[in-house]
Amino acid sequence: MDNKENKKFEFTGKNLKRALSVFSYIKPYRLQFILAMFLLVAGSLIFMLIMGLPGEMTNTAIGKPKFNFGLSVSDYGWIFLIVLIVQGIMSYFRTTLFALVSEKGMANMRKDLYNKIITQPIVFFEERRVGELTSRITTDIEQLQSVFSITLAEFIRQLVVMVSGVIIIIYWTPGLSMIMLMTFPVVVIVSMFFGRYIKKVSRQRQDQLAETNTIVEETFQSFSMVKSFVNEYFESLRYGKSVDKVVDISLRYARLRGIFFAFIISILFGAIFFILWRGALMVETGNMESGDLFSFIIYTTILGSAIASFGNLYTQMVGALGATERILEILEKDEEIDLSESKKPGTLSIKGKVTLENVGFSYPTRKDVEVLKNISLQVEPGQKIALVGQSGSGKSTIVQLILRFYHIQKGIIKIDDKDITTLPIHQLRKEIGIVPQDVILFGGTILENIRYGKPDATMDEVKEAARLSNSLQFIESFPDGFETLVGERGIKLSGGQRQRIAIARAILKNPKILILDEATSSLDAESEKLVQEALENLMIGRTSIIVAHRLATIKDVDCIYVLENGHIVEEGTHAALIQLPGGIYAQYASLQFEQKSLFQENILS
Ligand SMILES: Nc1ncnc2c1ncn2[C@@H]1O[C@H](COP(=O)(O)OP(=O)(O)OP(=O)(O)O)[C@@H](O)[C@H]1O
Ligand SMILES: [Mg+2]
Repeated sequence: MDNKENKKFEFTGKNLKRALSVFSYIKPYRLQFILAMFLLVAGSLIFMLIMGLPGEMTNTAIGKPKFNFGLSVSDYGWIFLIVLIVQGIMSYFRTTLFALVSEKGMANMRKDLYNKIITQPIVFFEERRVGELTSRITTDIEQLQSVFSITLAEFIRQLVVMVSGVIIIIYWTPGLSMIMLMTFPVVVIVSMFFGRYIKKVSRQRQDQLAETNTIVEETFQSFSMVKSFVNEYFESLRYGKSVDKVVDISLRYARLRGIFFAFIISILFGAIFFILWRGALMVETGNMESGDLFSFIIYTTILGSAIASFGNLYTQMVGALGATERILEILEKDEEIDLSESKKPGTLSIKGKVTLENVGFSYPTRKDVEVLKNISLQVEPGQKIALVGQSGSGKSTIVQLILRFYHIQKGIIKIDDKDITTLPIHQLRKEIGIVPQDVILFGGTILENIRYGKPDATMDEVKEAARLSNSLQFIESFPDGFETLVGERGIKLSGGQRQRIAIARAILKNPKILILDEATSSLDAESEKLVQEALENLMIGRTSIIVAHRLATIKDVDCIYVLENGHIVEEGTHAALIQLPGGIYAQYASLQFEQKSLFQENILS
């Protein structure tokens, strides 16, 4: 579990000031917010004053009014009616205004957060789980939203109720109030102490729940792996255990909350009965009117419930502070791409020369392993080069560096003799097309997936791209044609079909520089031929960098670079390299050739 999730909110001035900066999202709606706050405070005050009327009405009824309002008992009926209507209208506007402010404010925050996440560099995603990022944008924001729409208002309402309530009862019935206020701090202290402990358990519960959800996500996403390893039973046990743990913690949480409420209620009612008894004695000796005792009881009950709700409100507010901190941590990050810049059309207009000079690189998540060492290579505009080498030798890494997915530690990468770090990332990436090693499609239709290369492409353009990529035939053989759903990540298509869709996508993008990371999983001869043809079509007139596993596909490239453990160990044309005595490439070539002839022998014999 990520320790960021467990981190408590630390109450320092700096943290608090930072967390309060979320109010900037409320700022555009400050008028509505202030109006809602005003309605809230006014409504609460009116409520508190009204609660004194029944007592005074009782005093009036027995002919001993405390105040000289000159009202009869029947006048009180009208007052109640009017006040209730006014209160109703005020609460309607208060509720809708708070909803408006919180919905709009938090929607903006949600959009900002999404934009921030989507423009982060690759490393950001490698360091975090998808589930974690998702919960930032869902649960954490929802928590904040409920604070702005309900909790904050409730908190302030209870605060107004408490302050005004205490003032009113001290004014009204000073003697009894003093006794009441003696029990007041006890309840507050006990509830704070308890509240803190309950919060800890609640967080444990959330963490455990998140872990349970991670298991669900991971197994559902990789169900074919679960199946092929026949690990259903293992996963079922793992999930079952995790769920049971949630139940254990939840029950402990519930028991604690139960004790909390029981405790507060018994203290409160103990105090109320004690005070009632004192009050009754005072009425008996003529020190107080019975109407005043009535008012006192009403106010004490209101105060009691206000105090009781404080613990919960406090917990929710602190929870929201934690959520805010986690959200801000992302919002305060620098993005690698400026969204407003990236929607403009690309204007680099490059020729397509690619140069790597003495590039050295380690992945940021594994800093001590140097994946590439002193790599130098060059491709002239329109030329083709190939990278070959064992699995893990660094071929895909080179490709990712050209796309500037990572910062290199040593050397320089240039496009058209310009250091790529001086080019705007979005323009650079617009000039590069990639058909990756593992083609990942979005879950939508084939059309949507091809159009991803050029969102405003016409249907004719899409069809042409499908034709050039040898996909048109299989697409049209599906009953739904271009509207065929490809399934999650494209699983309803074969490997070769997915690759051809990726090629069609790259054709639409029409980049100057093309990167083909050949799939390691070999296709059958027929699909391979189709894919190969599609690639040939795609490479016409572009600078191409091919990561190759099948040497047959790169016989006529301009230069082949052989990688071993992050070094370039040989370079030259196919013809030159197979001549090298004891050369690695020559070894690969003879190996692939031998396999072929062995295969042929087997078939022939
Ligand atoms: N995102 C990453 N974070 C850390 N290390 C990585 C990452 N991606 C790859 N590596 C490591 O870098 C090395 C080179 O990997 P790379 O993917 O470039 O190999 P490759 O030559 O493309 O291999 P293959 O032929 O199997 O595709 C490997 O040791 C790999 O474990
Ligand atoms: Mg690779």
